[in-house]
Amino acid sequence: MSAWNSDLVNAVYVVAILVFILGLKAMSSPETARRGIVFAGIAMLVAVAVTFFISGLSNFALIALGVIVGGGLGFYWARVVKMTAMPQMVAVFNGMGGGAAGAIAAVELLGSLAGGATTALSLAGAVIGSTSIAGSVIAFLKLQGWMRSKPIVLPARQPINLGVLLVGVGFGVYAVASTTTLFLLPFFLLLLLYGVLLTLPIGGADMPVVISLFNALTGIAVALDGFALVNGPLGDAGYAMVIAGTLVGAAGSLLTILMARAMNRSIANVIFGAFGATEETGTPIAGQLKPIEAEDVAVMMAYANEVIIAPGYGMAVAQAQQRVKELADLLEQKGVTVKFAIHPVAGRMPGHMNVLLAEAGISYDKLFDRDEINDEFANADVVLVIGANDVVNPAARRAGSPLQGMPILDVDKAKNVIVIKRGQGKGFAGIENDLFYKDNTRMLYGDAQQVVGKLVQALKKS
Ligand code: TAP
Repeated sequence: MSAWNSDLVNAVYVVAILVFILGLKAMSSPETARRGIVFAGIAMLVAVAVTFFISGLSNFALIALGVIVGGGLGFYWARVVKMTAMPQMVAVFNGMGGGAAGAIAAVELLGSLAGGATTALSLAGAVIGSTSIAGSVIAFLKLQGWMRSKPIVLPARQPINLGVLLVGVGFGVYAVASTTTLFLLPFFLLLLLYGVLLTLPIGGADMPVVISLFNALTGIAVALDGFALVNGPLGDAGYAMVIAGTLVGAAGSLLTILMARAMNRSIANVIFGAFGATEETGTPIAGQLKPIEAEDVAVMMAYANEVIIAPGYGMAVAQAQQRVKELADLLEQKGVTVKFAIHPVAGRMPGHMNVLLAEAGISYDKLFDRDEINDEFANADVVLVIGANDVVNPAARRAGSPLQGMPILDVDKAKNVIVIKRGQGKGFAGIENDLFYKDNTRMLYGDAQQVVGKLVQALKKS
């Protein structure tokens, strides 16, 4: 490669990486997140485009075809996907990253099994990439509802999983030691199997954490592949992969830690704990469900000093956010203070509620994180729970509950709690909710969009 060409490509990579980091920084706040996504997208486009200028690159037509087909499908899917199906899409995109990292490692290993650092890095990239793609496929199937979402627990799963991993890695090491590429086949197959076995016992409610973890692993696999490529003819692309992979690995790891913390669980417990495998046992919940009509709720809220709205997955399904904005505006016109309580894992993806409420034009200063608002529920006259279930389930405070230890929104501390949901449907964790049976709780049944619409109408009349 000519020095001039190489310097130019590397200079563009550095600029792309800087823009990428600025994009990541902007994503840390909902106000600037949109700009951050655009920045990161442009940086990625520039990095891919400049790679074509690396001298020594061949198969241009094939690469361009891959970029067009992959980019086109990704673009189309991202445009048509429903917000509620976003986690599945992230799982698939993640899996693709892991698969690409595994494939690059495979090409490197098939090209040379000479041993040394490069081969060791490729082997490590292959282990992580293969586990990540297979695990991501299972995560996708569970989230899409094409596979039982509950944990699928095989007997003696821990020793079996460890055995599959060790034997798989053993084949890889033996392939290098004996310089026999044939042994790479069982190596890859067993690692794919390991990814499947690792993810089967993980329940649907833990999937966001798992997807984020696979995301981090994919980043690390890409970085390892990058290190392996640096010494080859396409070394410059290797540097870009090392930096991009490290950024993805770091961001994914932080997100994983934050989400596990939001559920008060360790990452090991999420991965190995088979959370939700055992059905809830114990005495049935005391009390009964007490329905209420929209008109009565409207009166209750119109005379309140403070109303806190706690949205959840049901608001997203019903696409009720616009109606919720109308409701909040009307209440404020009547002198009621309205705040929104946002649980970090409400909905089906990180930031789900923030995105929907922002889309409806609700200003960020009305949104409060769990830590900011939990002490305030006791002062609220009415808490309106809109399609939330697990994140407001006081069972999390009870020993023996599958939700035990998960930090929740303490909505049950309010004077009056109104829960909007369609019927007796359970939350994502599939367990009963103690909140619905409490003395201060009333159930307002119906689709969230229609019911909030009724509240708006009733308030307009009052
Ligand atoms: P969920 O626990 O999933 O409960 C949603 C409730 O909404 C259900 O009980 C359902 O009851 C109701 N609902 C559904 N459609 C509705 C509609 N059209 N109108 C009104 N209500 C409707 O929601 P949550 O409290 O937001 O908790 C989120 C759960 O998902 C947590 O367990 C979390 O760990 C998990 N999870 C989170 C994420 C992230 S990162 N946010 C990703 C994947 C999974 P009915 O059927 O009776 O209406």
